[in-house]
Amino acid sequence: MFQVEQLSYTYPNGNEQTLKDVNFHVNKGEIFGLLGPSGVGKSTTQKVLTKLIQNYKGAVLYKGKDLTQYGKDYFEDIGVGFEMPVHFSKLTAEENISFFKKLYKNPADTDALLKRVGLYDDRKKKVSEFSKGMKVRLNFVRAMINQPTMLFLDEPTNGLDPVNSRIIKNMMKEYRNQGGTILLTTHLMNDVDELCDRVAFMANGTIAEIDSPKNLKQKGSARTVIVEYMSGNKQKTDVFNLDTIGTDDAFLSIIQQHKLLTMHSQETTLEDIFIQMTGVKIDD
Ligand SMILES: Nc1ncnc2c1ncn2[C@@H]1O[C@H](COP(=O)(O)OP(=O)(O)O)[C@@H](O)[C@H]1O
Ligand SMILES: [Mg+2]
Repeated sequence: MFQVEQLSYTYPNGNEQTLKDVNFHVNKGEIFGLLGPSGVGKSTTQKVLTKLIQNYKGAVLYKGKDLTQYGKDYFEDIGVGFEMPVHFSKLTAEENISFFKKLYKNPADTDALLKRVGLYDDRKKKVSEFSKGMKVRLNFVRAMINQPTMLFLDEPTNGLDPVNSRIIKNMMKEYRNQGGTILLTTHLMNDVDELCDRVAFMANGTIAEIDSPKNLKQKGSARTVIVEYMSGNKQKTDVFNLDTIGTDDAFLSIIQQHKLLTMHSQETTLEDIFIQMTGVKIDD
């Protein structure tokens, strides 16, 4: 879907290069996560790919054709959910939707989308009366308004309660299962684990690592199993190497001779990887 080669960019008023030789590709039908600490260049990368930034160095190919060769037709193809939702606050949700719908040749069934995100009953309310979570959900509907084949989402579940966050995540998965492609930016590692087929970690303006969440976690540190058990009337805890427990006499004797309380395997989390990769903590 996308091929990004040696992408570099410096903001006109910036004294430091924001993007340095960024290389990655996005496959059709995948959710590709772009991760990294605040200020690393995730939004800037999205701005290049959504044609908001033009004078970059390097090449960006969309469906095999250079991005610079696309005209307005490009915007018929992509859906964009910006991090900071901007709506006409004096208009109702429905008026906002119908305004943006008119910009596209092939609009979506927006009533169905509004129903799905739980905003249909509030469609006649002014957006100024909306909560942050309602604005975020309206923003998602707007990103889907032209039935895009490629979706860019910057923190799409930020500020949503668990129920609404679940609805948006399910919609993202359905979109992907129907062949849609998503470039997702988020700092929520659980969302990444659940949604992303592959992730790229950005550090210092470039890509530090790209792989599936599963492979990244396997590449991480040793896998262990923590066993809590009763020894006489005392509670004890031991840690074993998960890969050798089958031949570990101490482990085998515990499970044969003691009452087990809990047994948990521990894998490296994406959060651990994030910290290893970027050398910094997750932005919040
Ligand atoms: N309009 C701008 N002008 C100058 N510098 C900018 C502008 N937007 C972002 N930057 C700088 O570019 C860097 C990357 O920003 P951004 O892409 O927004 O990071 P992220 O989305 O990863 O948090 C930051 O150092 C930021 O200060
Ligand atoms: Mg950003």
